[in-house]
Amino acid sequence: MGCAVPDFTGLRVAVAGDVICDRYMVCEPKSLSREAPVMVLRHIEERVRPGGAGNVARNLAALGATTTLFGVVGRDSAGRDLRLELESEQVGVENLVSIPGWTTPQKTRVVAAEPRRNVQQVLRIDTEPGVPADKEVRADVRAQLRAALSNVDLLLLSDYDYGFVDRDLGKLAREFKTAGRLVVFDPRQCLVGLEGLTAVTPNVEELAAFAGVPASHLTQAANLEAAALSVLERAGARWILVTRGNNGMALFGEGAPRGGWTVEALGSGNVTDVTGAGDTAAAVFALALARGVDPQQAMVLANAAAGVVVMESGAAVCSPEALRAALECAPNLVPSSKSPQS
Ligand SMILES: Nc1ncnc2c1ncn2[C@@H]1O[C@H](COP(=O)(O)OP(=O)(O)OP(=O)(O)O)[C@@H](O)[C@H]1O
Ligand SMILES: [Mg+2]
Repeated sequence: MGCAVPDFTGLRVAVAGDVICDRYMVCEPKSLSREAPVMVLRHIEERVRPGGAGNVARNLAALGATTTLFGVVGRDSAGRDLRLELESEQVGVENLVSIPGWTTPQKTRVVAAEPRRNVQQVLRIDTEPGVPADKEVRADVRAQLRAALSNVDLLLLSDYDYGFVDRDLGKLAREFKTAGRLVVFDPRQCLVGLEGLTAVTPNVEELAAFAGVPASHLTQAANLEAAALSVLERAGARWILVTRGNNGMALFGEGAPRGGWTVEALGSGNVTDVTGAGDTAAAVFALALARGVDPQQAMVLANAAAGVVVMESGAAVCSPEALRAALECAPNLVPSSKSPQS
């Protein structure tokens, strides 16, 4: 595979979006309960990993980019744990604002493992803030972002539908893009007000929702292309990178041939945990574009990095060494005439 891993050190990246606390309660099976027909687990340890925009940021930092996170958390234990964890992973958190009375979005996963066995997720409990964070605080964070942008090479927006990625943020991002800079948007819920950026990176389900078609419709190459091109036009972006889970990725937009560029998913089939793979993909795709890599090669890099993180338990990061090793066995681009199904 003729695709080298660029040196990402020295790139300065701002990530703005919804920050989530991924908490893992690691347990081992103990017995069947006599109180109810349920399994009893013995608690072993608890781990916290930054999720959402936090996971995007830690992926960027792990690849050597100087990364600052812009967003909000609650003034609660999840918010405090997140801040510590992000700092330990070299993510700048000086623009992550804690809001008293607001609840940090949290996904608590109870995972069980016996010694020398893969962990299994048993249960997930979501803690939701219920309302978006205070409008004025969000405006303050945006003002901090605006002030920081003159020293930034790349802006990455990560929407998880908790309210930070809104029209006002879209307006600021568009100004940055109009000034000749790079903005990559990983969408979740909405494209309205977030048009005119460099690239969007929906997964298939998000693309289907934006295009108003069932996701099952997009297993056909022609339908996937039609949906991607219509959403691309609506988004007014240069490229759309569609992440397709275990079917790899497809990229449409400037310079792409009919059918787009596609790449197959990587890996041995021993996928452990797909959580956060889309965050890794968006981070690597954006970094590669910022380094001047061609978009289709940026997709190959993103696909290789996503292939690395799905082999690990929990939302993981991909180091430059792991990315280099993954690329050695990365599939080449699929010729555009070939169906992305195959
Ligand atoms: N089961 C899998 N096997 C191999 N690769 C996978 C698998 N699932 C995901 N990937 C890789 O990760 C990329 C992103 O995954 P996906 O399309 O599921 O993103 P996502 O839904 O946005 O993920 P998330 O929101 O959890 O971060 C895929 O394009 C592919 O390269
Ligand atoms: Mg995603």
